[in-house]
Amino acid sequence: MRIGILGAGGMADALGTQWARAGHEVMISGRDADRAAARAAAMTAEAGAPAGAAGGVRAGSWTDAAAFGDVVMVAVRAAGIVAVLEEAGTAMRGKPVIDVTNAPGPDKYDPARPLANLISDLTGGHVVKAFNLCNVDVWRMTPPVFDGRPLAVPLCGDDSAAKESVGRLVADLGCTPVNGGGLDRATLLEATAAFVIGLWFGGADAQAILPPLASSGSHQPA
Ligand SMILES: NC(=O)c1ccc[n+]([C@@H]2O[C@H](COP(=O)([O-])OP(=O)(O)OC[C@H]3O[C@@H](n4cnc5c(N)ncnc54)[C@H](OP(=O)(O)O)[C@@H]3O)[C@@H](O)[C@H]2O)c1
Repeated sequence: MRIGILGAGGMADALGTQWARAGHEVMISGRDADRAAARAAAMTAEAGAPAGAAGGVRAGSWTDAAAFGDVVMVAVRAAGIVAVLEEAGTAMRGKPVIDVTNAPGPDKYDPARPLANLISDLTGGHVVKAFNLCNVDVWRMTPPVFDGRPLAVPLCGDDSAAKESVGRLVADLGCTPVNGGGLDRATLLEATAAFVIGLWFGGADAQAILPPLASSGSHQPA
């Protein structure tokens, strides 16, 4: 698969390297072409892929990365989303678009301004919110497994084919995709991130706040 990444920071590096290691072709993009190219070379080396070959990482402009990807990931700071997506242009229309973004801090989450909807409106893509609940270092783990249990990654989006594509990329990390519902649920993922990050900042183990499924009460199928 060709994966275009809008971003050349930590999330682009962590996830892009994993996908290059899994054999995908990856293109990252940032505001500074030289810095992005250096990052792409480091990612290629880290992934063990020969430079320039299929499976390696290259760098391009925002527009290049948007056009390159069969799937495009938006991995920029919230402050840059509008400018970056306006510059990236129309190439994401109708494509699966992974949204990993979060508010700039746990106290900055605004339920009236869901980032996933902003990205959907600006790209015209099939947005799937994913990967926003865990710190970048988790996405560098090969694989992210805790107490013998692979990390589960909720996906929120309206297009089932886009979710399937993103689910395969989740599986490439050694994680388990979980259907989190439609794009209208994405704001709940953004809220969850703000909530648990606030707990982690306070030194609490956020994982400990939820019981296992067997103790979660009785549930009727919808
Ligand atoms: N870090 C985490 O643990 C983590 C976990 C989950 C989700 N996220 C979310 O993922 C997104 C990317 O995070 P990251 O950790 O990869 O961030 P980062 O390392 O700081 O990289 C940010 C990227 O955004 C680009 N950008 C474009 N416009 C920008 C602007 N106005 N201000 C700042 N950066 C701008 C940067 O471009 P340049 O390359 O030109 O600097 C860079 O490529 C964020 O929305 C974040 O909330 C992060």
